[in-house]
Amino acid sequence: MAYSETTVIAGGLAHIPIVIGLFRVIENFVLQRTDSQGSSGSSTIPTSEPEKTQVSTPTKLPSKKQAHQNVPVNTYKPKAPFEGKVLENYSLLKEDAIGRVNHITFDLSGGNPQLKYVEGQSIGIIPAGEDAKGKPHKIRLYSIASTRHGDNMQGKTVSLCVRQLQYEKDGQTIDGVCSTYLCDIAKGEKVKITGPVGKEMLLPDDEEANVIMLATGTGIAPMRAYLRKMFEPQERKKNNWNFRGKAWLFMGAPKTANLLYDEDFENYKSKFPENFRYTKAISREQQNAKGGRMYIQDRVLENSEELFALIENPKTYIYLCGLKGMEPGIDEAMTTAAAAKGINWSELRLKLKKAKRWNVETY
Ligand code: FAD
Ligand code: A2P
Repeated sequence: MAYSETTVIAGGLAHIPIVIGLFRVIENFVLQRTDSQGSSGSSTIPTSEPEKTQVSTPTKLPSKKQAHQNVPVNTYKPKAPFEGKVLENYSLLKEDAIGRVNHITFDLSGGNPQLKYVEGQSIGIIPAGEDAKGKPHKIRLYSIASTRHGDNMQGKTVSLCVRQLQYEKDGQTIDGVCSTYLCDIAKGEKVKITGPVGKEMLLPDDEEANVIMLATGTGIAPMRAYLRKMFEPQERKKNNWNFRGKAWLFMGAPKTANLLYDEDFENYKSKFPENFRYTKAISREQQNAKGGRMYIQDRVLENSEELFALIENPKTYIYLCGLKGMEPGIDEAMTTAAAAKGINWSELRLKLKKAKRWNVETY
């Protein structure tokens, strides 16, 4: 199967309905085919045949602004935030899990204008109180874990998945300001919310897109929204968007008890076995081939044949979210996997990024 710049770019544009008529035949044909056997393998998700047709590219790529014209941003700014009431706040962890991770839902009703958002965006939270200098606390960003319809499908709530930051300093346990504020907050309290922000992690419109998700910890938040949109029956009905592609989630957690939204994902897997694959890396319970902690990049390497077969398809989009520290590991795994096929990962990643098929939000 061939990797070409044209294929990659056309894949990124497949969901943008403005390409008709403005095409010209591409002049530079870049990456050459290096492995004729690449995509064979025993995938439980059958991969679609990559498009092999000669594709042309538009004279001018649409700007980011044009591509996401209808995505709301900064409806509420730090100087005049929206005050959302806490509707629920509960732990997502099982017994013996490490740390604290909560699912928190805010009521957005009564806003003028109404705070609306789409899957893959974030909101800002301004914690109550003041910092050590007596100034209001700064905003912290959180990825939205609900779809635009909210968990109750009424379109007027937003949910977050928040891990309490805790670390040791000089023999003392330090609690993160905003994450502790959120994990402790009681139902009924009001919270200052800004945003929404972010256009990096938006899903393609294409119902036949393939979506590879690489998440560690709370990096699952946007993926939960994508998966709800794809597989929750009420969402499918309301969206009139019937996902038919392949979704593949790689989830990293320290212990089984720390897996977030695991039952929901297992349920999607049993209901949509042809469309959803769920691969877990439980770092403190499983070992990688070298005997170290099992991280998602180890799972990427184990599945590199199938992953690269999917990536060859221009309808495939990749999303990374969670710990910043996972980026070098993922890059290394992709470099190794790509090299086995004679592909230069840095070059390919750049092309995928340009085509909005490689999307990263780490913190
Ligand atoms: P703070 O009180 O602000 O403390 C953080 C500071 O503590 C750091 O800046 C650093 O100086 C220090 N610190 C941290 N760790 C250590 C350490 N080990 N040793 C010494 N010093 C240390 N978080 C989530 O839980 N869920 C999400 O979905 C989520 N989404 C995000 C999306 C985006 C786009 C971004 C940018 C961030 C996201 N975050 C998310 C992280 C979130 O914004 C906060 O950074 C996090 O909750 C910590 O904030 P805090 O106020 O609790 O910590
Ligand atoms: P570990 O903490 O065992 O080293 P959480 O946010 O719930 O702690 O989950 C984050 C997950 O990501 C954990 O399993 C953690 O493993 C793992 N992790 C930590 N560092 C990296 C890294 N550099 N690359 C990939 N995964 C990582």
